[in-house]
Amino acid sequence: MADTTLMDKLVSLCKRRGFVFQSSEIYGGLGSVWDYGPLGVALKRNVKDRWWNSMVHARDDIEGLDAAILMHPKVWEASGHVAGFTDPLVDCRHCKNRFRADDPRIKGTPGQPDAQCPVCGSRGSLTEPRMFNLMFKTFMGPVEDSAAVVYLRPETAQGIYVNYLNVLQSSRQRIPFGIAQIGKAFRNEITPGNFIFRTREFEQMEMQFFVQPGTDAEWFERWREWRMQWHHSLGLTPAKLQWHQHSGSELAHYARAAFDIQYEFPFGWQEIEGIHNRGDFDLGRHQEYSGKKLEYFDQAQNQRYLPFIVETSAGADRVALTLLVDAYREEQVEGEVRVVLGLHPAVAPIKAGIFPLVKKDGMPETATTLYHELRQEFACFYDDSGAIGRRYRRMDEAGTPFGVTVDGDTTTARTVTVRHRDTMQQERVGLDRVRQYIVDRLGATR
Ligand code: GAP
Repeated sequence: MADTTLMDKLVSLCKRRGFVFQSSEIYGGLGSVWDYGPLGVALKRNVKDRWWNSMVHARDDIEGLDAAILMHPKVWEASGHVAGFTDPLVDCRHCKNRFRADDPRIKGTPGQPDAQCPVCGSRGSLTEPRMFNLMFKTFMGPVEDSAAVVYLRPETAQGIYVNYLNVLQSSRQRIPFGIAQIGKAFRNEITPGNFIFRTREFEQMEMQFFVQPGTDAEWFERWREWRMQWHHSLGLTPAKLQWHQHSGSELAHYARAAFDIQYEFPFGWQEIEGIHNRGDFDLGRHQEYSGKKLEYFDQAQNQRYLPFIVETSAGADRVALTLLVDAYREEQVEGEVRVVLGLHPAVAPIKAGIFPLVKKDGMPETATTLYHELRQEFACFYDDSGAIGRRYRRMDEAGTPFGVTVDGDTTTARTVTVRHRDTMQQERVGLDRVRQYIVDRLGATR
């Protein structure tokens, strides 16, 4: 399967089955903004729940936070985003398109007569590169002047830094400890694309771990290992995950060390999560800009210091896309193409499809009772329309790991057929054992 075709097929499946729709589609869509349908929202929620469970519920040393999207504008001066969160851009005076100055499709040097616009082909029409800030601006209150400018946050991390003392004091944590947050972030990306890979509105799952200076390198290594393990726990193909170390100019202004976890997408190896050793850059800057002391007093060592921060930062949308890409496959079955999303059962939006084989002989009644029982435990889907083979195929495309069919033997033998998505094998399971049978095979939620 050609790689571009795979993305096209995935986009089409996502729309057909209700994973992802283009935002404001009836108005022609909005550039690189996407909506999650019933299955997509369930998939993304499962990703976020697994992340939250592993970060917050399973650990004593991490607290949760939900900070506001709008923050004091000085936050973004302190963070360096006002001055530095920019891309160099060039405009074509002829066709009015805008590109990143390093767009590989541009021939020649922007601003020079030899430069050629990659869209309309005009020569000499590209402007000199100009810096363009990626933050979305809006106004707070009734007056739209420069004093009222606020930004939609481009990352969730800053909400954690400015609340670090509040959380520390109210939770009575001690360093080393972390704060985890999941929330929306916004970036006016110039070259968005590849479906939900790079969008202008997205969700981040970020954790900032506060440590004593000097222990940061050790914590950085620990977090690197734990984060890679987490991605493996989602069932992703191990050979498609790798580390990418940032070096030299690639290192962000705040980072002492940085590694990305990359996945091999059809469009190449790309970052899905970044792990950064941010040193004391963030707390140092907020201390300077706010004028408030953000030091930590270590009672045991009778020592005062500004903690260093190890950050883990993943995109929920990007992880959802990774799961979809990794799971998509096509097989030839009895002369027909079977499309399957082989999602790990723990992240699959629907865990079991419940089917009465036919709409008579008490089968719908038994299936409905079973459906109501099972949905107390996990997400199920009841389907009584069409041939059973078609119903299985619809669930295969939705990534549903189990199909439970109530048939003629259910009344007499009190058993149902459980069909496995990946092998298509079927086995008889006692009606009263179905719930436990599926629970046992869903995989841990952590
Ligand atoms: N606080 C650090 C930070 O924001 P980043 O590398 O810019 O670092 C972290 O972003 C993660 O957020 C990325 O690994 C990616 O998963 C996700 N992300 C960033 N920009 C995104 C975008 N435009 N669309 C979707 N996800 C994005």
